[in-house]
Amino acid sequence: MVSRVIPVDPFDLIIFGATGDLARRKILPGLFHRFTVGQMPEEARIVGTARSEMDNDAFRGVIRDSLLEFAPRAAEQTGLLERFLEKLSYVCVDVKGDQGWGDLAGFMRPDAVRAFYLSVSPSLFGEIAARLNENGIATPDSRIVVEKPFGHDLASARALNASLRQSFDEHQIYRIDHYLGKETVQNLMALRFANSLWEPLWNSTHIDHVQITVAESLGVEGRGEYYDRSGAMRDMVQNHLMQLLCLTAMEPPSRFQPNAVRDEKVKVIEALEPVAPSDIVRGQYRDRNGEGSYRDHAGDPNSQTECFVAMKVNVGNWRWAGTPFYLRTGKKLRARTSEIVVVFRDPPHMIFPKMEKHRGNALIIRLQPDEGITLRTTIKEPGPGGMRLAEVSLDMTFADALGSHAEAQDAYERLIMDVIRGDQTLFMRGDEVESAWAWIDPIIKGWEESETAPVSYDAGGSGPDDALMLLHRGGRRWREIEV
Ligand code: BG6
Repeated sequence: MVSRVIPVDPFDLIIFGATGDLARRKILPGLFHRFTVGQMPEEARIVGTARSEMDNDAFRGVIRDSLLEFAPRAAEQTGLLERFLEKLSYVCVDVKGDQGWGDLAGFMRPDAVRAFYLSVSPSLFGEIAARLNENGIATPDSRIVVEKPFGHDLASARALNASLRQSFDEHQIYRIDHYLGKETVQNLMALRFANSLWEPLWNSTHIDHVQITVAESLGVEGRGEYYDRSGAMRDMVQNHLMQLLCLTAMEPPSRFQPNAVRDEKVKVIEALEPVAPSDIVRGQYRDRNGEGSYRDHAGDPNSQTECFVAMKVNVGNWRWAGTPFYLRTGKKLRARTSEIVVVFRDPPHMIFPKMEKHRGNALIIRLQPDEGITLRTTIKEPGPGGMRLAEVSLDMTFADALGSHAEAQDAYERLIMDVIRGDQTLFMRGDEVESAWAWIDPIIKGWEESETAPVSYDAGGSGPDDALMLLHRGGRRWREIEV
């Protein structure tokens, strides 16, 4: 299969916080990859800004080192690397003062797409947005890109939205949730809405429950102090897991267009029922093999922050009443695996002898790693000896089915190109973020008020036993986190 790359329009991309971690690990390597595949037009220009004084050469040196470290093939592509670096320049900008804004204004071209990527603390979003406006750098067509955390509760998310909207219109604001840029997450929409096979079954009549797991093998080493102020609920559930839930549960949009898709996602969030405390498990990993516990990594022996959450969620609408969605995410689990498991109901009447370890039909959408789709099906076990049944998998991996075409682009590069194209479909709308917080806030408040402590689980395991019980109570069980 031949990969088709359609170049985007000429653009001026200004990255605030250009020497920070995200810019060096994700944004610039993503842009470099788009350059190497020919998607970036000759006239594209990228300006890095930060507080420190630096000339263009010094900045290019920093980015050269970052690309050699973080862009998978940069070391073999030195010619391309140098040509890419020529597109980069640097302006020292004091976001709280006057320095640099005039230089930025002078740099912008009237006929290029303008995009401002704020890879900085959210506390600076409003101020930067205002200065871009005051200095005539932003035009009514410019785009502003912001990263999570987008607030830490409903009130702060509202305040952030309000501060951005003082200077930019909603159609100009691109709130990144990098899960939406993952190829397999988008594939979830293709699977649901480009096939007629699933839709008749995609409801509570046929689906017993859905499991959404985002398991990570890494702990919070190195960022424990930051993480401890957030926790898994804010860091993962409020954004990434809720996006996966929305894409799985939403009604078919009338068109694949930004507001049509986002309207349907908001409806799912608004249909979420409050979660009973007994339907949520919070956890912290304990030390195994001397690698340290969550509390060691967080630097607080009394930390009450969860780095694992499992919860049973009900979507209160006609399609899903009676079909729970179980969400689970955690650090330091057995493996890094993200998947959605749609478990179908058993046949209404079984005419064959009961199987040992019967699990039933399930559609497993593996988001990472080994992206693919598996359909668990029951067959007759071959050979004599009567009608014995067995469960087998109909398997499709992207790598096998699509070969080199399956070579996934990083989520960020896809999303940045969408910003330049002016396509907001894969970005969170302001009301979407606020609805998600409105549902999450009472859960976190309940924890704070009850002062319940997270339960502990073994690092490298499958999470707390209580999380297993959450499903057992309903006669169900989690799909194993596969190594
Ligand atoms: C980030 C979280 O948004 O997503 C991290 O802040 C988490 O804590 C990461 O590790 C997971 O992303 P991915 O793409 O590695 O699954």
